[in-house]
Amino acid sequence: MHERELMKIALEARKNAYAPYSGFKVGAALLARNGKIYTGCNAEISTYSNTICAERSAVFKAVSEGERTFEAIAITAGTDDYIYPCGICRQVFAEFCDNDFKIICTNAQHKYEVYTLGELLPKAFKLKNYNDLL
Ligand code: THU
Repeated sequence: MHERELMKIALEARKNAYAPYSGFKVGAALLARNGKIYTGCNAEISTYSNTICAERSAVFKAVSEGERTFEAIAITAGTDDYIYPCGICRQVFAEFCDNDFKIICTNAQHKYEVYTLGELLPKAFKLKNYNDLL
């Protein structure tokens, strides 16, 4: 699947964003290794801290359906600047994805930059760190 296609799906998912507090709507499209796509959008709650980002909503949706391995994610926010995943979402990616997982960061002009997870979260703390103790 081409990066541009994944971006278009993320743009569609963004329409479902529920952001009455920030007004900042985000969409995501997550490509699993088996070719399936899971979408996500941010959803805000009146007690702000319970808000979930578009990226995590896509990952947890996929995990809840039995998916464990992922290839790429596209993120859209309709902003002139490229949208980059927050720190919490990067850590969630690190739980399920390898360092070569592709993160497609888009802007309002439908341009995009592609990074690997290894670039955006180097030296992540992972399950392996626990296993090394045993
Ligand atoms: N948000 C995302 O969904 N993804 C990001 O990468 C950055 C931030 C959401 C969380 C909140 O609903 C709104 O954007 C403003 O921070």
